[in-house]
Formats: sequence, structure tokens, C-alpha cells
Amino acid sequence: MSIHLSERKQIQTVLASENGERVLIAGFLKRKRVLGKKLVFGIIQDNSEEIQAVFSVSDIGQENLETIAGLPLQSVCAVEGTIQKNADRTKKPEMLVLAFEVLSASEPQLPIDLGPGTESAMDLRLNWRFLDLRDERQRTIMLMLSDFERFSRDFFYREGLREIHSPKIMGTASESGAEVFTVNYFDARAFLAQSPQFYKQMAIASGFDRVFEIAPAYRAEKSYTNRHLTEFVSLDVELGYIEDVEEVMAFEERWIVEVLGRLKERWDSNVERLFGFEISVPTLPFPRIRMEEAIEKVNRSGLNVSAGGDLPSEGEKRLGQLIAEEHHHPFVFVTHFPFSVRPFYHHKADPRTSSSYDLLWNGVEITTGAQREHNYEILKRQLAEKGMKEEPLSDYLNFFRFGCPPHGGFGLGTARFMMSLLRLENIREAVLLTRDPKRVTP
Ligand code: 4AD
Ligand code: MG
Repeated sequence: MSIHLSERKQIQTVLASENGERVLIAGFLKRKRVLGKKLVFGIIQDNSEEIQAVFSVSDIGQENLETIAGLPLQSVCAVEGTIQKNADRTKKPEMLVLAFEVLSASEPQLPIDLGPGTESAMDLRLNWRFLDLRDERQRTIMLMLSDFERFSRDFFYREGLREIHSPKIMGTASESGAEVFTVNYFDARAFLAQSPQFYKQMAIASGFDRVFEIAPAYRAEKSYTNRHLTEFVSLDVELGYIEDVEEVMAFEERWIVEVLGRLKERWDSNVERLFGFEISVPTLPFPRIRMEEAIEKVNRSGLNVSAGGDLPSEGEKRLGQLIAEEHHHPFVFVTHFPFSVRPFYHHKADPRTSSSYDLLWNGVEITTGAQREHNYEILKRQLAEKGMKEEPLSDYLNFFRFGCPPHGGFGLGTARFMMSLLRLENIREAVLLTRDPKRVTP
């Protein structure tokens, strides 16, 4: 009997098939139990689900039974058999195996433990990330991240945004303050984009009403923390013809509520089983607090965070807790940042205040957003105020010389979003592969 992989079905589909139906599945041998010389129970897992396969000597013969009994876990096999529904409807169907083929055997000794409560340290797991991702919990994070992007695209297209792809090699640094990577560019020097900031604004100046981009951004930050990477995926939105920054915030909160609603619908039972809580969809509107007030509130609670009109991370954390107690809401927009702690391109609400915000989720910054200054003369004055030169930014400044719609937008780290959503301790679990100051492999 030969196996035809083209007939393979996903285990999730197979679990719903009729009693007695003959099907072919393929996946990793996740666990097995050998009962004497007559019976082997094997759990086969694919990307969608797992199923128990019953290998019995009477159906597959002695030689085949010995093969499966001796097969190392994590080997890849194709298994054909009939579906046996359990009389108890709450129990999953099994498969009675009629034929199987080992497609690729695993070495017997795995370098890391898989499964819940793994003893393997994060660093070791990251060295063996392709194996780590075979664990259902780890893989679920990635599948949900993919849905997060998909649902976001759905929302953005429906709202009239267009997707762009801007270059990641640049002649000037895009985010003052954030550290930039320098690369050799033939005989010259270039930089890796820290953000698509300048180019998404260019798209507005080019006449695309509203745009978004989901792409890598690079930060040469030496900080080795649980929420900073040197390469991360930034989801950026830029909206033309806005009235004010409030419109940007209103757009962002509507998007988050829709996306969380859809993630809940699709993933809630998996999240409950694997992470131990239910996804909650927040109410609209999200609370808003001015930076001044936020600092006061945090200081009144016993911290002392006057640091130049910005909130350090322990201040953000405390603010998140205080807002949760007061408003029963996990999100908060912190608004009216002093212009002194914001980049030159932010629009000013008044001489000392920028029209900008940070969005915190459970006390962690997931977004910075702002209305931009689109008036060429004012923009040049703001550059001077920051002590910056015009010349290196001349290409950027040109965007504002020939008519540019008023605009604003935001950037969100997709890994930060997943980290907050799934309450992960470490951002490294929310990216396929980690790039941090100590890691550029695998
Ligand atoms: O706050 P940031 O630096 O803002 C910008 O890049 C602006 N151009 C956005 C705008 O449109 N005004 O970065 C935006 C978001 C952060 O809130 C955070 O979620 C994420 O990007 N981020 C990082 N994620 C992982 N590792 C890092 N090193 C990150 N730096 C920023
Ligand atoms: Mg920021």
C-alpha cells in the first residue's frame, strides 16, 4: 500500500470527518506509548491539531509495528487510516492506522525540552528556535501574530488605506534619539531605517490619502531588556487630511477593538488552554490622560518620576495599574507630551507641547503617534529649536515645499502588541527569530 502525500488532510479537518472514513494525515510524532509487542499509541501533530493514532500488529504487521515502536519522537510521518469516533462525544476521535511511512526520522536526543513547563532556558531555546516553535504554545503566538497582521490589513483596506513598502537602506537617520545602525554602502555610508517615518509622510505629500506599512525597523539600542529588539516589525499608519491628533487616536482605538474582537473569536479557546486567560475586548473610547497629569498621578502614588516631562518605564507600569484601578481599562493614551522630549517633526499644540501621544497597554508602550508639522517654515524653525541642521534632511524638508496635506499617524511594534496581548514575559517569544545586542543567529 503506498502513501500519496497529495491526499493529505489537515488533522483539524480529519477530526470532523465521518466515523470509519479513510484519511491520510502527516506530521510530527509528538508522544507515543508502546504496549507490549502488539500495540503502539502515537500522537501525531500537524500545524492545525493533534490526533491519537492506534498502530496495531493485526493491521500493520510485526515489522511495521517495530518500526513505529522504535521511532524517535519528533520524526515526521505520514499516516493513513480510518477515523474512529468516540462514543463519548466530549472525547476526540482516534485513527486506526492501516499504513504509515516515515518521511524523515529525528535524531533520538533533542537539544531542548518541548512542551508546557519546559526546563530549557530561553537562550538555549532561541538557539534551537525551529524546535522550540514545534511547541504548540510557541507556534500559537506566531499564528496569532499572522492573524493580527491579516485582520489589520482587512481593517486598513476597508478604511481606504494603501499598503506601501519603503526602503530600509537610507542616507539619513529617521528617528533622532533612537540609535542607528551604519552600513557600508559601496564606497559610502548608509543607515538602516529606524522607522518608515519619513517615507510614509512622503506618501502623503505624494497624494496617497492614507497609507500603512508592516515592515522591519532597526534600532542599535544596546539595552538588553525583555521588550527591546534590534530588529522588530513596525506597523505604521499615516492618515492625510486629519483635523487633529485626536482623529489619529480615534482611528487607532477602533482598529485595536476590531482586531482584538476577531482574534478572540478565532483564538479564545486556544488562549484559555495554553495561556490560562480569556482575551478581553476593551470598550471605546480608551481613557486619555495628559502627560502632566500622568506624572502627577504617578508621583502621588509614591514614585518619583519628574524626569524631564517624560515617563520612564516604571512610571508607565505604575500609570497602567492606576488607570486599570480607576477606569477598569487596560489601555491608556498619554497625550500632550512636552515638545522637548519629542522629535522635531511633531506638530505643536502650543509652544511647549507636541500634538502627540503614546498608547500604553498594561503599562507598556505599544505605540507612539502624532500629528506632523506640515508647514515648511515652522518645520525649519522646529529643527533649529532642536539644534539640528537642515542640510542632511533636505530631501525630507522638500516634501513640504510644494503643498502637503495635514497629516498624522502612528507606529506600533507588532511584537510589543503580541507580548501585551498574551502577557508574555519576554518579547523574544513574540518574534520568529530574535535580533538583540547579543544575538544575530540563527
Ligand atoms: O516609539 P517609536 O520609536 O516611534 C516611531 O518610530 C515613530 N516614527 C512612530 C510615529 O509614527 N510617530 O517606535 C514605535 C513603536 C514603539 O511604541 C514600540 O511598540 C516599537 O515601535 N518599538 C520597538 N519594539 C521592539 N524593540 C524595539 N527596540 C522598539 N523600539 C520601538
Ligand atoms: Mg515611542
